[in-house]
Amino acid sequence: MSLPAATAESRVVITGASSGIGAALGESFARRGYSLILIARREDRLTELADRLRSRYLVDVDVIACDLADAAAREELLDQLKVRETSIICLNAGFATYGRIAELDAAREREQVALNVVAVHDFVVGLLPKMIFRGSGAILITGSTAGNQPSPNNSTYAASKAFANTLAESLHAELAGTGVSCTLLAPGPVRTEFGQVADLGAIEEHLPDFAWVSAEQAAEAALRGLAAGRRRIVPGVIAKVQDVGGRLTPRSILSPILRRVYGDMR
Ligand SMILES: NC(=O)c1ccc[n+]([C@@H]2O[C@H](COP(=O)([O-])OP(=O)(O)OC[C@H]3O[C@@H](n4cnc5c(N)ncnc54)[C@H](OP(=O)(O)O)[C@@H]3O)[C@@H](O)[C@H]2O)c1
Repeated sequence: MSLPAATAESRVVITGASSGIGAALGESFARRGYSLILIARREDRLTELADRLRSRYLVDVDVIACDLADAAAREELLDQLKVRETSIICLNAGFATYGRIAELDAAREREQVALNVVAVHDFVVGLLPKMIFRGSGAILITGSTAGNQPSPNNSTYAASKAFANTLAESLHAELAGTGVSCTLLAPGPVRTEFGQVADLGAIEEHLPDFAWVSAEQAAEAALRGLAAGRRRIVPGVIAKVQDVGGRLTPRSILSPILRRVYGDMR
């Protein structure tokens, strides 16, 4: 399976494109000649990225500022996207919170589920039928290695990424033979604004340098995997170990270890 061809009319949609992995995905696609629709809330960041990609790679880039956690805004956005040609969709916007769920702000926890789960699902059910009818397209869903394992003090996030991981891998199998592919990007630690948004504090400092990959490395791995029609992409050696460990280690062993790790580090 190869990626749908890059044409000026047919766009790559990237959510969470104003920073981190999403911005790097924008750069990676533009470098290969793809025209883009960049989505996030911070319009100034999106506009700055769009200007740079247009002048450097001579591609068309549209910017849409949208709060994807807001159901009405999401519906309006999807109505706009449904009447456009979208060949590749990268569902990447997301954030985490850290702390005991009962002590965290309930509204922020709900916002996390709305963005990491409901918005991803809305995009899939809204945009996939047209891709299947056309017989071509590709979907990239950014889950996480955190979605493979129980993560105390990171419960809403881990559960939301379990949804993303399972949705992506289910679709990968379900879509076989339709001309449309679905690939999971399940990163471990990536240097972005993610830790700052989640208020992870010292947790990140406990991770050695070699555990990290850059947003650019994650994005390039994602594009190579997407082009190859892969089911799951885990960028970086340490993340691959975490990925396998999180999936195969019995919960009775893993849970107490992770309780210590996530509980003591901040
Ligand atoms: N970094 C890691 O270690 C890591 C590991 C595994 C998985 N991931 C996943 O990778 C994805 C990208 O994260 P990142 O690491 O690149 O973090 P990031 O730099 O914080 O980027 C998050 C992106 O999501 C957007 N976003 C947040 N809330 C939004 C909302 N309500 N509506 C629309 N857009 C929203 C942000 O844009 P605005 O603030 O401008 O809206 C930003 O563009 C996330 O799904 C994350 O869970 C990250």
